Amino acid sequence: MQVFHHVAGLREALAEARRDGKTVGFVPTMGNLHDAHIELVKIAQQHCDLVVVSIFVNRLQFGLNEDWDKYPRTLERDMVRLREASCDFLFNPDESEIYPNGMDQQTRVVCPAMTDVLCGASRPGHFEGVTTVVAKLFNIVQPTKAVFGIKDFQQLAVIRRMVEDLCIPVEVVAAPVHREADGLAMSSRNSYITEDERPRVAVLNQSLNWVKAEIEGGRRDFAELEKQAGRRIEESGFRLDYFSIRNSRDLQPAADDDDQITVLGAMYTSAARLIDNVSLEL
Ligand code: PAF
Repeated sequence: MQVFHHVAGLREALAEARRDGKTVGFVPTMGNLHDAHIELVKIAQQHCDLVVVSIFVNRLQFGLNEDWDKYPRTLERDMVRLREASCDFLFNPDESEIYPNGMDQQTRVVCPAMTDVLCGASRPGHFEGVTTVVAKLFNIVQPTKAVFGIKDFQQLAVIRRMVEDLCIPVEVVAAPVHREADGLAMSSRNSYITEDERPRVAVLNQSLNWVKAEIEGGRRDFAELEKQAGRRIEESGFRLDYFSIRNSRDLQPAADDDDQITVLGAMYTSAARLIDNVSLEL
């Protein structure tokens, strides 16, 4: 695996690969890699000849009171995992490489659709930070395809929208949620879950699946379902952020006759904010 810290070196190597006719798959990450990230790499390998992974903990997408400074940084271990997974290129830039003019003066990419609800409501500015850095990374890597996990359903929807609106020539590939045995969706922030909380956090996924089954069974009292699921999460000792039944395409509140529905939830443990979702087609 070749490791690049600078845009220029990465671009040169990618230009050579393209001259050899290679297609480029891209997996943007913030590091602290776990099995779900490695799955994204494998999917990128199935689609493309050469795979680039980026590791960059993007301060622009963290709120002032969020965990940017304590976000786990495990570069040495991440590199071992990427080498084992036969990743071709790692791009690991410094903040000054991505934001050479400083973050305050950085030109932003704003996607007004779908960004002020759900995770966007409790994390103001988050999606603007994501779209800005992903647009920059797309410009740097110029991938044929880029792989994103469905676990961050709203992020995936917003990125798809950005790509469409800005005519960015990249195909976005969605990767299924990778789960622990009890259903907990894999996430770098799972390392914040305490031992005492760990047996109970599966309640998020269980509640999503319960609501999914109720809708498949014919229920359409969405507000009541959301309330019941939210209560179940709170009774397990967690503070609810949101629990919401939405149209999968535009993330608007689901209507009775919608045929593609996604149920999304977010809850707080003592030190983490966990998100998950399940989709259903009717
Ligand atoms: O999903 C993530 O890890 C981040 O939001 C991303 C896409 C790498 C942008 O910083």
